[in-house]
Amino acid sequence: MTGLVIAAAGGLTREVLVILAQVGDYDELVLLDDDVSTWGSVIGGATVLGPTDLVVDRPDHELLVCAGMGATRRRIVTAWAALGVDPARYARVVHPAVEVPIGCSLGRGSIVLAGAVLTADVRVGRHVVLMPQVVLTHDDVVDDYATLCAGATLGGGVHVGEGAYLGMNSSVRQNLTVGAHSTLGMGSALLTDLPPAETWGGIPARRLRTPHLPAARSSTGDPTQEDPA
Ligand SMILES: CC(C)(COP(=O)(O)OP(=O)(O)OC[C@H]1O[C@@H](n2cnc3c(N)ncnc32)[C@H](O)[C@@H]1OP(=O)(O)O)[C@@H](O)C(=O)NCCC(=O)NCCS
Repeated sequence: MTGLVIAAAGGLTREVLVILAQVGDYDELVLLDDDVSTWGSVIGGATVLGPTDLVVDRPDHELLVCAGMGATRRRIVTAWAALGVDPARYARVVHPAVEVPIGCSLGRGSIVLAGAVLTADVRVGRHVVLMPQVVLTHDDVVDDYATLCAGATLGGGVHVGEGAYLGMNSSVRQNLTVGAHSTLGMGSALLTDLPPAETWGGIPARRLRTPHLPAARSSTGDPTQEDPA
């Protein structure tokens, strides 16, 4: 047994703690968050101890970054790397009823919530979040830091680029590419490739006029979207 340090204390963290209550085998759960207003609060029975750089105090614990936005996950992972954190310490958290079949792979730091399906030869990168009922079919590839919200469904052979965000119940036709750091709005049906760093939505999905996004775009190039955490 060992402990687990979880960064970011929001909704996704609570969802992960529910899974860990069923299958977790950790002797200590440590919550860290850079938002000072969370310090001392209790989430799912665990207390937020302080900022994420306190990770250095638990050098033997496994690690998980539970921010709902891929850009935030990447920021924390990058900061921890600068503190000398070994990437091999990142855990994977998979709901106990979800099967990751032989031939499918799931990178370190990734989180898979209830009802997600991976069929055959699916490759999921590092620090990816698959929310409830996400369906990944044969030969799909999901790159690091992508976020697939509840019910997102990919046809076979789809490539989701790094940091992309697929809204709830969006669907992607087989063999398409969702560009890195792009956003596909909830309920959309994507029928053609989605270029990098654009926001599309609708049926069929087209580029959206999204007045909120340009001003809010982060320096990392990720579109800002509602944080599901
Ligand atoms: C696509 C999205 C990111 C756009 O958010 P936004 O930048 O705040 O955009 P706005 O709400 O201002 O809408 C801008 C335009 O896009 C349209 N639009 C927004 N979301 C859309 C969607 N999912 N499908 C089709 N059109 C959409 C709006 O109707 C509006 O159209 P208009 O220019 O004709 O008025 C957001 O609507 C979305 O779908 N987010 C995902 C939500 C989700 O899955 N959350 C899960 C949390 S766990």
